Amino acid sequence: MSTAALIPESKLPALGTTIFTQMSALAQKHNAINLSQGFPDFDGPEYLRNRLAYHVSQGANQYAPMTGTAQLREAIAAKTEQIYGYAPDASTDITITAGATESLYIAITALVSKGDEVIAFDPSYDSYAPAVELAGGVMKRIQLQPPEFRVNWAEFADQITDRTRLVIINTPHNPSATVWRHSDVEQLWQSIADKHIFVLSDEVYEHICFAPEGHASVLRHPELRQRAIAVSSFGKTYHMTGWRVGYCVAPAIISAELRKVHQYLTFSVTTPVQLALADMLREAPEHWQELPAFYQAKRDRLAQGLANSRLKVLTGQGTYFLLVDYSEVSDLDDVAFCHWLTEHVGVAAIPMSVFCAAPFPHKLIRLCFAKQEATLDAAAERLCQL
Ligand SMILES: Cc1ncc(COP(=O)(O)O)c(C=O)c1O
Repeated sequence: MSTAALIPESKLPALGTTIFTQMSALAQKHNAINLSQGFPDFDGPEYLRNRLAYHVSQGANQYAPMTGTAQLREAIAAKTEQIYGYAPDASTDITITAGATESLYIAITALVSKGDEVIAFDPSYDSYAPAVELAGGVMKRIQLQPPEFRVNWAEFADQITDRTRLVIINTPHNPSATVWRHSDVEQLWQSIADKHIFVLSDEVYEHICFAPEGHASVLRHPELRQRAIAVSSFGKTYHMTGWRVGYCVAPAIISAELRKVHQYLTFSVTTPVQLALADMLREAPEHWQELPAFYQAKRDRLAQGLANSRLKVLTGQGTYFLLVDYSEVSDLDDVAFCHWLTEHVGVAAIPMSVFCAAPFPHKLIRLCFAKQEATLDAAAERLCQL
């Protein structure tokens, strides 16, 4: 029998190369400024990099405990109490994972069984649906509409059935850059309080929030946090997306289940990186405290740079993304426009429709402003020529 005949039927037949990989490759080919994929073009804190070198040199190079080093879990517990007024138990409620991506995956795998329904809001981050599909779950997507991308809670209530097991939320929201209000979290709780439903809350941009109300974490809500898994990413907070460390906070009985998946997926996360992150959290809290102002200045710089262009900027309140409406510039659909923009204008962006299962006919693209000022200025100059 030929090897080709042995290839199993794909479990994710609809999945190809992601738009992020495609656009980054196209940006490289055309030497375009890459505002597509979400990663900084500057380095993380020097202190953190030095602490990693230190721990490697001190021989902290063997397996970390499965759930994460005690130092890092304890530092996270203290920080969570400081910012959200809730102290999770460092030994039972916090699990260190390979990026937020692994936290999302283990939570979905642990909680979703065959035929279970999972509600998510489109546009949605691309890792949720494949994990739900692999677990045998069924995605039920609620399409949010620009420019506000707000949840209609009556519509949400209509989507809940006896099979609904999980709701996935994300605030501050990639890609729309909108943020939830505390009242949204309360509405969510009221909708699921008497049902057997869990909440997976993707909060990787928790420190990149410019809303006057601040970040509406599920961890602030005394009842909802008993049903929730809150997911964070050190990659976002410390500009180190390549270090691949994130974590999740969930009640002990939920954590026990998702740790069973984590134990046989990655077992544990790189030891010296965890020790360096624990030092950083303890010794340099000003870094995350200054993050909103740091990123708001970048958002404002790009928005001001585009003020005289024919693009209409939708000023978001969080994440390091900015949405722009190009309807005055082109009739192309958003995917074709992003290709054209990369090839002819030299700026790579991400089309919004790729985050939606239903047709998304709006002329909106996403620009990443986690870039140096010179990069933002150069991109704005090119975009002003449109
Ligand atoms: C909304 C959202 N969730 C999760 C992730 C994944 O985070 P990490 O790089 O820590 O795996 C990202 C990264 O872009 C994201 O934007």
